[in-house]
Amino acid sequence: MSRADRYLKACRKESVDCTPVWIMRQAGRYLEEYRAVRAKHSFIETCKTPELAAEITLQPLRRFELDAAIIFADILLPLEKMGIDFEFTKEDGPQINNTVRSRGDVEKMRAINPMEEMSYLMDAIRMVKRELGGMVPLIGFSGAPFTLASYITEGGGSKNYVFTKTMMYREPDTWRLLMEKLTDMVILYLNDQIKAGVQAVQVFDSWVGCLSVADYREFVLPYQKRLMASLDKSVPHIHFAFGASHLLKMVKDAGGDVLGLDWRMDIDAAWKLLNHVPGVQGNLDPVALYGSREYIKRRVQNILDQAGNRNGHIFNLGHGILPETPIDSVAAVIERVHEYRR
Ligand code: CP3
Repeated sequence: MSRADRYLKACRKESVDCTPVWIMRQAGRYLEEYRAVRAKHSFIETCKTPELAAEITLQPLRRFELDAAIIFADILLPLEKMGIDFEFTKEDGPQINNTVRSRGDVEKMRAINPMEEMSYLMDAIRMVKRELGGMVPLIGFSGAPFTLASYITEGGGSKNYVFTKTMMYREPDTWRLLMEKLTDMVILYLNDQIKAGVQAVQVFDSWVGCLSVADYREFVLPYQKRLMASLDKSVPHIHFAFGASHLLKMVKDAGGDVLGLDWRMDIDAAWKLLNHVPGVQGNLDPVALYGSREYIKRRVQNILDQAGNRNGHIFNLGHGILPETPIDSVAAVIERVHEYRR
């Protein structure tokens, strides 16, 4: 079996020669070649220039034996076309300049045509596909409606999600309209990426872990379900809800061929809770990469032992790789994963 097939086969729970591995945020600041591009171009510029986005997407593939590429972009990009004004100035994340907190704010948000209005991304996808020449598949992605909604209501990162939850609790109709609009957008956005050539799509619900079980059921599940069911079925769907062990059963109900898992739960316990129905992706703590080589090997081994050679495991971190991560640690992880079954 070639490296080209491993990731997609594992997504479909078919047997593979060794566990496929890729790393969330694999293109980014921990790579000096990324920092070199960023020294000359702003983050937004790199996203909007297909040649740069394609180059950055391929950087980690040149260094490591990764089993998939992920297109270089950001979850906030489609919001721009909906009328949200944001900038990436802060170290700790993006800042939204026109927060969405009232009915009027939500009503003003426009529907978008990603294929035309985000042609820079579609061009980058086509370029990467051409350059990869089938070596490994290319993953497309989007933020989930909840995570996007919380970004634009809060205005950036948040600790208590006061604006998001206030809208849910005081103006449920406004919340519903916001979620409907975002869900419609994400469906088009991901299906257009699939048309442009991505071979799998991942939905990031990075912030949904702040919700209670009851709130997820009432305010998120119906939209997330509609979203997952409306994606083009010719490619696998990966559903990653971060910090959401307590929501795992409902995340499964929402859908996804593969569920992304963070490190908080043991991967065997989580998979068992899912009755081993979907595939699972994860779940090494990104900070484990700050440990010694021996320590990293032990942690990787432990995850692979738990996954127990079952079909449908894709190795990944439990969240995005951190900017200060030692580069040798990344190579050590990938090597160990690939050695395991051979
Ligand atoms: O995985 C990849 O290699 C693809 C690239 C990718 C980026 N953002 C590039 C990026 C992906 C998949 C994302 C998704 C994303 N963006 C998420 C969901 C995943 C997650 O981590 O939970 C979220 C919440 C965002 C929003 C966002 N964009 C934040 C919080 C930040 C700044 C903080 C950080 O971790 O860097 C960004 C900026 C951003 N997006 C950078 C990159 C490489 C850093 C830009 C820079 O300073 O060079």
